[in-house]
Amino acid sequence: MKKYKIAVLSGDGIGPEVVAQAIKVLDAVGQRYGHTFRYCHALVGAIAIDQTGDPLPEETIATCLESDAVLFGSIGHPKYDNDPSAKVRPEQGLLKLRKTLGLYANLRPVTIYPSLRDLCPLRPERVEGVDMLIVRELTGGIYFGERGRSEDKLTAFDTCTYSAYEIERIARIGFQEAMNRRKQLMLVDKANVLESSRLWREVVQKMAPEYPEVTVNYMFVDNAAMQLILYPAQFDVIITSNMFGDILSDASSVLAGSLGMLPSSSVGSHTSLFEPIHGSYPEAAGEDRANPLATILSAAMLLDSLELHKEAEQVREAVAQVMEKGLGTEDLKPKIKCTCSELGDIIADIVEDTENHSLRIQKISDRISTII
Ligand code: IPM
Ligand code: MG
Repeated sequence: MKKYKIAVLSGDGIGPEVVAQAIKVLDAVGQRYGHTFRYCHALVGAIAIDQTGDPLPEETIATCLESDAVLFGSIGHPKYDNDPSAKVRPEQGLLKLRKTLGLYANLRPVTIYPSLRDLCPLRPERVEGVDMLIVRELTGGIYFGERGRSEDKLTAFDTCTYSAYEIERIARIGFQEAMNRRKQLMLVDKANVLESSRLWREVVQKMAPEYPEVTVNYMFVDNAAMQLILYPAQFDVIITSNMFGDILSDASSVLAGSLGMLPSSSVGSHTSLFEPIHGSYPEAAGEDRANPLATILSAAMLLDSLELHKEAEQVREAVAQVMEKGLGTEDLKPKIKCTCSELGDIIADIVEDTENHSLRIQKISDRISTII
């Protein structure tokens, strides 16, 4: 019986609706196991710019620092995407938050639900056995290096800088995660071209003897992009820089059948943060059709971080059950199509162990058969 304070940063686009489903599920966990989750909502992203002029108001930082965990939705708005001259951008809020909370490691597990195999454009035998973890460095590299324009504005630069210290701490997480998994670590870099990548190799090679059970391999990022599609089951733990991790994790979501399936946790020196890897999907905002599973699975990772492992497993189990039953949002091309909130309700009911969920599924099936 414990009390937890969760900072909730729903953000933009579909953020609020998918986060609302994760909260339902956390509340169901609370009901079943007698925990209390207290939510403190705070602004971030485009909505924060609209209301305060700042994509990450001080108040939001304070709320996160005072909380046991941060549940994050998504940020971004097309009006900024199409305006390269915008001085203030929603993404700055997320980047500053990662930096301020010292969230240097972003863990993105890629698991495949059997019922979604057909959604993956690869042949089923290629996806067989895929179970990997992308460990993405999150507070360094080209995302945070010096950038700018020449005086005539016709030349621009972004710098990729990494210190041995930054590489060692993220690599350590990779090695530790590998120890708890299949003990295969793959460093993905571009060491044939980039000096920063050569430092990554140097540091990782130096650390390898500390983990004699872990097999360390190295792969150039262009080849890794190909291998992820050609033979994805070869990967166990991938460690990589900020930008390569960003790109490779979106690519690997194709294996899972939808970008709406992949959760993530970001850990570091302060409160940990949990967010789906997808963006704000503005086209679907407010339409109750977004896939809430990545956020619900992120909430499961949040529970793990609070040492509530049984509860986390319960949530993952509930997600597996709805997948098995053929339920899902439109992106999953499911047998039984649900709205975002219906899927959240069903998962929450299963977690709470009420019989309600059969009734809800029945209602949705009836609705579908009436339409047909
Ligand atoms: C992600 C997103 C962010 C990133 C954006 C929104 C800044 O793509 O979390 O993967 O690039 O890190
Ligand atoms: Mg991304």
